[in-house]
Amino acid sequence: MISKKRIAIKFVVVVVLCWLFVSGDARVRCIESEREALLSFKNSLIDTDGILSSWRNDKCCKWYGVECSNTTGHVIALQLDAYDRELTRPRHLRGKISPSLLELHHLNHLDLSHNDFGGIPIPEFIGSMKQLQHLYLSWSNFSGSIPPRLGNLINLRSLDLSANDFGGIPIPEFVGSMKQLQHLDLSWSNFSGSIPPQLGNLTNLRSLDLNDNDFETIPLLLGNLTNLCSLVLGGNDFGGIQIPEFIGSMKELQHLFLYSSNFSGIVPPQLGNLTHIRSLDLSFNSLSSISPFILDSVFESLETLVLYYNHFTGSMPDLRGLPSLTELNLMGNNFTGSVPLSIGQLSKLQVLDLSHNSLEGVASESHFSKLDKLKSLDLSFNSLILDIAPNWSPPFQLKIMRLGRCNVGPYFPKWLQTQTNLTYLNLDGANIADEAPWWLGSMFSRLEELSLSDNRISGTIQNLSSTFIWYLDLSYNQFSGPIPLLPPYADAIFLGGNMFSGSVSSICSTRHPDLQYLDLSNNQLAGEVPNCWEKMSELEYLNLANNSFSGKIRGSFGALHNLNILQMHGSGFSGELPYSLRHCQELSLLDVGGNKLTGEIPTWIGRLYQMQFLNFRGNKLHGSVPPKICNLTNIHVLDLSINNLSSIIPDCFNNFTGLASEDAAYAGTITFGANGDIDYEYSSFQWKGKVSEYRKNLGLLKLIDLSSNRLVGNIPKSFSNMSHLRSLNLSRNSLTGHIIPDIGRMEMLDSLDLSHNQLSGKIPTSLAEIHTLGVLDLSNNNLSGQIPTGTQLQSFNASAYADNDGLCGDPLPICPGGSLRPSITNPVENMNEKDGDNFSFMQEVGISMGFGFIFGFWGVVGSFILKKSWRIAFFNLLDAVGDWFYVKMVVFVSKWRRS
Ligand SMILES: *[C@@H]1O[C@H](CO)[C@@H](O)[C@H](O)[C@H]1NC(C)=O
Ligand SMILES: *[C@@H]1O[C@H](CO)[C@@H](O)[C@H](O)[C@H]1NC(C)=O
Ligand SMILES: *[C@@H]1O[C@H](CO)[C@@H](O)[C@H](O)[C@H]1NC(C)=O
Ligand SMILES: *[C@@H]1O[C@H](CO)[C@@H](O)[C@H](O)[C@H]1NC(C)=O
Ligand SMILES: *[C@@H]1O[C@H](CO)[C@@H](O)[C@H](O)[C@H]1NC(C)=O
Ligand SMILES: *[C@@H]1O[C@H](CO)[C@@H](O)[C@H](O)[C@H]1NC(C)=O
Ligand SMILES: *[C@@H]1O[C@H](CO)[C@@H](O)[C@H](O)[C@H]1NC(C)=O
Ligand SMILES: *[C@@H]1O[C@H](CO)[C@@H](O)[C@H](O)[C@H]1NC(C)=O
Repeated sequence: MISKKRIAIKFVVVVVLCWLFVSGDARVRCIESEREALLSFKNSLIDTDGILSSWRNDKCCKWYGVECSNTTGHVIALQLDAYDRELTRPRHLRGKISPSLLELHHLNHLDLSHNDFGGIPIPEFIGSMKQLQHLYLSWSNFSGSIPPRLGNLINLRSLDLSANDFGGIPIPEFVGSMKQLQHLDLSWSNFSGSIPPQLGNLTNLRSLDLNDNDFETIPLLLGNLTNLCSLVLGGNDFGGIQIPEFIGSMKELQHLFLYSSNFSGIVPPQLGNLTHIRSLDLSFNSLSSISPFILDSVFESLETLVLYYNHFTGSMPDLRGLPSLTELNLMGNNFTGSVPLSIGQLSKLQVLDLSHNSLEGVASESHFSKLDKLKSLDLSFNSLILDIAPNWSPPFQLKIMRLGRCNVGPYFPKWLQTQTNLTYLNLDGANIADEAPWWLGSMFSRLEELSLSDNRISGTIQNLSSTFIWYLDLSYNQFSGPIPLLPPYADAIFLGGNMFSGSVSSICSTRHPDLQYLDLSNNQLAGEVPNCWEKMSELEYLNLANNSFSGKIRGSFGALHNLNILQMHGSGFSGELPYSLRHCQELSLLDVGGNKLTGEIPTWIGRLYQMQFLNFRGNKLHGSVPPKICNLTNIHVLDLSINNLSSIIPDCFNNFTGLASEDAAYAGTITFGANGDIDYEYSSFQWKGKVSEYRKNLGLLKLIDLSSNRLVGNIPKSFSNMSHLRSLNLSRNSLTGHIIPDIGRMEMLDSLDLSHNQLSGKIPTSLAEIHTLGVLDLSNNNLSGQIPTGTQLQSFNASAYADNDGLCGDPLPICPGGSLRPSITNPVENMNEKDGDNFSFMQEVGISMGFGFIFGFWGVVGSFILKKSWRIAFFNLLDAVGDWFYVKMVVFVSKWRRS
């Protein structure tokens, strides 16, 4: 019995082994004709990365990417997606796709994604592979039109043509006849026009991705796709329509992504029917409210709710119906009222972002009571008051915490000490007036981003040279002591507006290869500025203004080849500008005003042809205004006032095309990072509607101030070419000759000061044609004759014309022998008019302050408190400048976030 059983077992074993051998052979060896087809497919490709290096022997079923049928041995799948997340260097197949693939009669799965076929159209023969069920051609550099023969592939279950460039054609209608399709991905492929209604025939579809094309309409028939589990329509422009109600009938939907597609209006109540929804992203649209029906619905499975940057108003949605929520992002809306207490019950929440809304009231410990999974908390830019006991022991361990502009103070939140995993901390403007706690130091070792600006935090900062901080903003606090050893990997360091004192030579002790923004302004720093700037060669923004340095501007500044902005106003520098500075060819703003610089204005200044804002005001420069300065054709603000310049003014100011056009400063100089992230940043900025605002306001900053020098000769004729100049100040020089007759061509002029010169002759009649003129001073010259008539010139106070040889006529006494003409305008009345709210900022203050408001605006704020119209104009302007910095910051922040 036993031996019979053994024999039986042996027999079975042998049979099994034989079967394994035979079938194994079929699985490995593959069919000869198919092997040859594969080889000729390989031979027409260019495979420099060796992706197909295993395609050599006769065991073609074992070749990379080849799959054969277990039973028949036919090749059934070819999976040559080149993407490999392990590899840092991308690899690709290139060359031609051979029609020999047609020999693979049983191929049902073809994947050529992430290769590079050099912009050829999708080969037509693929349309003859009727047996295909899965076709993946994404990210493979196909372009041109799609061959109609592809419409034969009626057995397709998956079709992915995403991330190619089909040149703006519509989706071919034949896609609608691929009735078996379950997955259709046409995202990122430059399709446009209408989404064909034929897609509504694809009732088996489980996922449809039409993301990031230029589609304009959504056909009603898409509502037939009731089996959809995932629908992505983001990144199109549907022209401000409402979200289609029929989406609510797609009962199976789990993922709905409708971001950045220009939807507006109410989120329709029908979406409340999507009871299986897990992620919903409606961000970056113009949606204004959510149907109350939705707010009352229960979404048991909703995990991700992303509504940021819409126009939602009213109170925050109630969160009781969302027990599974892990991410809630309501940033950048206009939600008002208080934060509902129900938020504290969302025990699965990991990400909570309510920033940039109009929320108010108190956020207390109960708002966080069950949030033990929370990792990221952002409540910044609301009017929230954080009312939390110092000894609170939070249920969470945050990695990201941003409470900027919330009322957190007056004490530094002690409970932060429990957050031992914190990496990003922002408490900007959080109303903290306290000493920095001792344990902040131990936090530094983990932080990558620390922003505490605009508080009244005091104390000293320890050595940061062994931290990993990328972004450090301690500006506008009361920190004192020496500036710390800087974090070596930082991209941006803002220490301005504190009481840091002593020498800055410590910044030389380490290299800062990534540093792009450094602000040490408005401190009490002293001593010589060290000569080691080559250690920060990536700097784009350097602000040393308003300190008490001594000595020269050192030669190594010339190593800052990327420097865009150099602010050294009122910093105590003496000596000459270093010759090496001519290498800083990216400079668009150079402010060395209010120092003790000597020597002449260097002729090499003409090489810095990106320059838009140049301020030498209040130094001891002598010699000439070099004609080379006219090479700075982009200049918007040129201030050489209060020096000892003694030449004639070169007659080349017609070169300043930036002053002869409406072009706004900075528009062309925002450096958006190297690798094409320009568009993204630019459009996201435009999206916030701020680009135009900023352009308009910065356009105001067009001025030339050469006052308080010893300039001689005539006012050059070329001045009249600066037709968009807002302010011209040539006062307190020794200019002679006539006022240029066509001065009226500077038709945008707000302020003109030619006083305290030796100008002679008549006031040109064209001056009366400058209707924008609000400030005029021609006093203390040798002008004579009748003041040209026109309401504009008569509206100024007589002092505008005082101390001239022989000026007469309104508002001065009538000319001898002139007709008795009644005064048309009453000067007093006009003065009153000027006090009206609509009187422009530039007219009254902006111009006369010259650079004051641009470069020293912190100091002048006080003088604005009295007058509302000034204040508004001023802060609009500040906003504009702020916006520009904001752009820089967004660009920069996103840059390092990406990296
Ligand atoms: C074929 O074999 C592979 C591996 O041995 C197995 O994973 C797969 O399920 C089999 N396919 C069929 C259709 O039997
Ligand atoms: C597909 O849809 C269109 C209209 O959208 C319709 O006219 C056509 O008959 C449908 N085709 C099939 C095969 O159902
Ligand atoms: C598609 O929807 C239309 C109306 O919305 C309906 O008349 C038609 O029967 C639907 N077709 C299918 C195949 O469900
Ligand atoms: C879907 O929502 C609407 C609006 O709230 C409702 O009237 C309708 O009955 C719902 N449809 C289904 C099929 O549940
Ligand atoms: C926010 O809403 C309030 C009223 O609810 C409104 O006064 C305010 O203008 C809105 N702000 C914005 C930026 O839309
Ligand atoms: C801190 O973060 C690390 C890794 O991100 C994680 O493993 C650890 O559990 C976290 N610690 C706490 C207390 O959450
Ligand atoms: C003047 O500017 C141009 C660029 O507009 C530049 O190429 C040239 O070198 C500059 N010339 C001088 C003399 O600085
Ligand atoms: C005026 O600008 C042009 C470049 O646009 C430059 O070549 C020329 O030298 C400039 N003139 C002076 C006087 O700098």
